[in-house]
Amino acid sequence: MENNKIRILSIETSCDETGIAILEAKGDFPNLEIKILSNVLQSQIELHKEYGGVFPSLAKREHEKNLVPVLTESIDKAKQNNLKTENPKISPTEEIFKYLDKNTNLKENLKKSLDKIDKPAIDAIAVTYGPGLEPALWTGVNFAKTLSLLWQIPIISVNHMEGHMVASLLKKDAPISNYLIDLISKKIPIHKKSGKYQLSKLEFPAVSLLVSGGHTELVLIKDWFNYEIVGETKDDASGEAFDKIARILGLPYPGGPEISKLANLWQGEKTITLPRPMMNSNNLDFSFSGLKTSALYKVKEMGKLNNKQKQEMAHETEEAITDVLTFKLKKAVEKFGAKSIILGGGVSANNRLKEKIKKLSNDLQMDFYFSEPKFATDNGLMIGIAGILRLAKFGDQSFLNDLDDLKANGCLKIG
Ligand code: KG4
Ligand code: ZN
Repeated sequence: MENNKIRILSIETSCDETGIAILEAKGDFPNLEIKILSNVLQSQIELHKEYGGVFPSLAKREHEKNLVPVLTESIDKAKQNNLKTENPKISPTEEIFKYLDKNTNLKENLKKSLDKIDKPAIDAIAVTYGPGLEPALWTGVNFAKTLSLLWQIPIISVNHMEGHMVASLLKKDAPISNYLIDLISKKIPIHKKSGKYQLSKLEFPAVSLLVSGGHTELVLIKDWFNYEIVGETKDDASGEAFDKIARILGLPYPGGPEISKLANLWQGEKTITLPRPMMNSNNLDFSFSGLKTSALYKVKEMGKLNNKQKQEMAHETEEAITDVLTFKLKKAVEKFGAKSIILGGGVSANNRLKEKIKKLSNDLQMDFYFSEPKFATDNGLMIGIAGILRLAKFGDQSFLNDLDDLKANGCLKIG
């Protein structure tokens, strides 16, 4: 670590986004100042749209295609933000590529580009190893292992859900005035500007509502890295419910933002009511598959929907999902006497959900953390933040001892 600064390169490939970020942090855990040197994302959404959802083998193929260009771009951008690199001109042996035997396209891409990829001055490589789609996860994990061998840099393995959670703690560093002063005094040319953030001070216990395409869970955070899942979905995730009901309404994938857009257009007298599943259950669990079935029956019953009816269905879907999420969150907060709420995951980009939770946190006078919409859905940055926090807290203990030990785990739980 140079000048007590931590630098991390992070890799995210758990679903349909190939993300690589390079971050720099200074300060003492947990009061870190984080600078985004680069955060490059190559989305596969357009491709998956054609199929109405994500296919694991297709996602793997796309990650194999995208990882090397995303890496190159990420290193180039970070260099513009003063990241040091070197090009040792090594001719790597086959031993270096041994973890890519099941990712032959990626292996070829990397070999071809090797002399164009500089070695960045980083302390660790953070990589998502679960949960998610296993073929997609393995591609990122194998790539990280190969870079680790190539550059002789250790790996920190990161849980994707922890990434979503900690990304919500980023807050802009009172910057506008400082930034403008720097700009006016020409300390930083515009093209070199990089985002500076701080991590919010978190009061424990905290409760995190993590809502994505594959997960919906309530996590009690007793202290840093001390998690307990206290509620989760019994079937579909909330993002999945948005996506499936969107499909029923003939809207493209991913359905969450589409439903939200339509819902905002609706006005008038309410004629459709969908259920709020498990709202009155005695626990903190969720269930969304019944909601999807009710929506399907409703649509069948109504016949061909006109625009206004579609808008109302979208509106009622968004209300039903966000009502249940907010209600169960409130129950968890009360049960555990939580002092702060963290919302994370792709569905946290939903404005209605944030509005309802903001009201709840105001009523209960507690802190509420959520991320900017661009960091809410999958990206490399969130994995880097988790990696930085782990490195800042545990030092060398956060490193993987043996690369062979790291395995992708599609069902990995936080805890
Ligand atoms: O976290 P994420 O990017 O990927 C997973 O880890 O699954 O979450 C993707 C999910 C999708 O189901 C998508 O429809 C949903 O997040 N989503 C939204 C919104 N933006 C994305 N759901 C509701 N409202 C949104 N604005
Ligand atoms: Zn996610």
